[in-house]
Amino acid sequence: MIKACIFDLDGVIVDTARYHFIAWKALADELGFDFTEKDNERLKGVSRMTSLDILLEIGGLDLPKEKKEELAKRKNEHYRSFILEMTPDEILPGAMKFIKELKDNDLKIALGSASKNAMTILDRLELTSWFDAVIDGTKVSNAKPDPEVFLKGAEALNLPPSECVVFEDAEAGVEAALAGGMKCVGIGSPEVLGKANLVVPGLHEMDIEKLSRL
Ligand code: G6P
Ligand code: MG
Repeated sequence: MIKACIFDLDGVIVDTARYHFIAWKALADELGFDFTEKDNERLKGVSRMTSLDILLEIGGLDLPKEKKEELAKRKNEHYRSFILEMTPDEILPGAMKFIKELKDNDLKIALGSASKNAMTILDRLELTSWFDAVIDGTKVSNAKPDPEVFLKGAEALNLPPSECVVFEDAEAGVEAALAGGMKCVGIGSPEVLGKANLVVPGLHEMDIEKLSRL
């Protein structure tokens, strides 16, 4: 019996990938190499420092730790200048309706995100009070595909993993959910998220009926 849903944030509830892209691209421009939207796909679901490592690998650069920390800090300041302007209009289609439907049916809701900016984003979207638990990048030490973020979510809700369903747009996130013993709904394309129990293009295609059939 499903008693809770654990949502990834970026790419599931809100599309922050384009803000990450602008901020990473500005850094690549400054460092003198090209960074494309296709490259940006590799950064989805990946932590900030690992994202920087991937970016530098694309640019063929190997930089000292202090320089990397400075770059990551600057990228984050640029990124935050966008998210601080976000409004509830940016919640992806169907997300609010589905969250309300879950609550009407007495299901619990948690967030399981790699982002250290998750709380800021939830606040800007006026979504914070809907969540019974928030596990973000400040609370985990092992990145997806490690299941830590989702296991901590289930624990915070006081539920066994088998009673939780995870919603994820990144392959590593789907793997993390399954590794944690949870069902997973992939948000995006079946080619990328084929391991999930169900794949839908967005939360607008989800409802309690589909959830109960998982
Ligand atoms: C999410 C996004 C990633 C991002 C990561 C860390 O998983 O999908 O693209 O790198 O969060 O985000 P942060 O806000 O902490 O830099
Ligand atoms: Mg995501």
